[in-house]
Amino acid sequence: MKHMRAGIIGCGGIANSKHMPAIKKLGLTDLVAFCDLIEEKAVAAKDKFGTVDAQIFTDYKELLKMELDAVYVLTQNRAHSYITIDALNAGKNVLCEKPMAKTSAEAKAMLDAAEKSGKILTIGYQNRYRPDSIYLKRACANGDLGEIYYAKAHAIRRRAVPTWGVFLSEEEQGGGPLIDIGTHALDLTLWMMDNYKPVSVMGSVYKKLGDQTETANAWGDWNPSEFNVEDSAFGYIKMADGATVMLESAWALNTLDVDEAKTSLCGTKAGADMKDGLRINKVQYNKQVVERPELDPEKIRFFDGSGEDPDLVEQQVFYNAVMNGGEVVVKPEQAYVVTQILEAIYESAKTGRAVNF
Ligand SMILES: NC(=O)c1ccc[n+]([C@@H]2O[C@H](COP(=O)([O-])OP(=O)(O)OC[C@H]3O[C@@H](n4cnc5c(N)ncnc54)[C@H](O)[C@@H]3O)[C@@H](O)[C@H]2O)c1
Repeated sequence: MKHMRAGIIGCGGIANSKHMPAIKKLGLTDLVAFCDLIEEKAVAAKDKFGTVDAQIFTDYKELLKMELDAVYVLTQNRAHSYITIDALNAGKNVLCEKPMAKTSAEAKAMLDAAEKSGKILTIGYQNRYRPDSIYLKRACANGDLGEIYYAKAHAIRRRAVPTWGVFLSEEEQGGGPLIDIGTHALDLTLWMMDNYKPVSVMGSVYKKLGDQTETANAWGDWNPSEFNVEDSAFGYIKMADGATVMLESAWALNTLDVDEAKTSLCGTKAGADMKDGLRINKVQYNKQVVERPELDPEKIRFFDGSGEDPDLVEQQVFYNAVMNGGEVVVKPEQAYVVTQILEAIYESAKTGRAVNF
């Protein structure tokens, strides 16, 4: 099979934990260029995952001068938009990490650049490729749930504030848990509903725990003086067809009801949630029934040849799109709507009023 030639821009956490290992395992892409503002990070990435003659850069614009099929934009959120736009304009196909961008204006500019260049743009929402997500998407697309008119997008941690990198910086990331993990849950929910027409959004955004010390945080105490973003945020989203979506997100919240990158759906024929694997609730023969599909990853193969690891599926889908003209699963116009809604939650929380689209 023909190999894809790709470059990595941003050789930090997500590059090392998700993309580069999955690319290596899949074996269909040659990583021939690495860029990071911190040169040692690019060198370390090349040594572990690159071709022998892979090139190292600290200026992404130099990397974009190379002949490449694709680039991965894996920097902090602040740089997603302008690097992606430059890459598309340089004729590269792009996989950009989530969230698509800090603001909807930035996301729209990315969308426009993708359309103008005719190149592929997709966003790193790998939760769509989990076995439970794939199963539920098929059930929704098949109409098994009927009309989905109420849904909850769950992104709640009790005490897991990311204390590395720049996650606590509003300037670098554009927000806290809402834009960081709320984005995954909302993406999953809208994709299941196949509903991308919001009409109004109300939001509440809190920073109630960020100033505390002795935090029992999963990744060690945060530094209150660096904590410039919210610690929890909640949204109430009304869709054009009358459906309602509630979004709950927190890095720190006094709750035992913890759930992340999950959705709960209520339709006219059945409901579903991602607790205990995946549960589909319905009424059958006048009895209340709960189905729990067998999701043993060993038994499910949805995308041909890709295996069942969501990180591998993400790479396989991108490879197929770039090299074989396949379709991406995460469409940039869908990620744009997610960005618009998240921005509206922040905006509504500031003004105390609903944001109407
Ligand atoms: N899909 C997921 O589940 C998931 C999980 C974690 C992070 N992410 C996303 O991945 C992105 C990066 O997060 P991370 O945890 O890897 O952060 P990180 O800080 O570990 O890595 C980011 C890297 O980008 C580099 N960088 C910044 N600006 C650059 C530029 N202009 N040119 C070249 N390199 C540049 C930084 O030096 C750093 O090494 C964020 O957008 C985050 O939301 C996604």
